[in-house]
Amino acid sequence: MRYLTPRLSRKREVLVSVASADVPINGALLFRSERLALLRDENGFNALSLICTHLGCTVTVTEETLSCPCHGSLFDRRGSVLKGPADKPLEKLELIEHNGMIKVYGR
Ligand code: FES
Repeated sequence: MRYLTPRLSRKREVLVSVASADVPINGALLFRSERLALLRDENGFNALSLICTHLGCTVTVTEETLSCPCHGSLFDRRGSVLKGPADKPLEKLELIEHNGMIKVYGR
């Protein structure tokens, strides 16, 4: 007997594609309409959702932190909570660096 099963592989969506050289070290590129930030430090790149894990406002990126204008939550550049009311880290998005390009995949 043979069963038909739905394919589980969902096609991942590329949210942004950018040249890695365009992301400054210790800086960030913001993609407002995608609500994500691509951050870079000495260790490499990190893509974070800018959707606050408290009630969904868009967080802003400063030099040292990411802060939410709605109720004051604060996150570090890795997305970990520094100050509530948010109690979960910002969503880390998958990224792939290849041939000098970075692609961030989403949701
Ligand atoms: S929505 Fe960000 S702190 Fe409330």
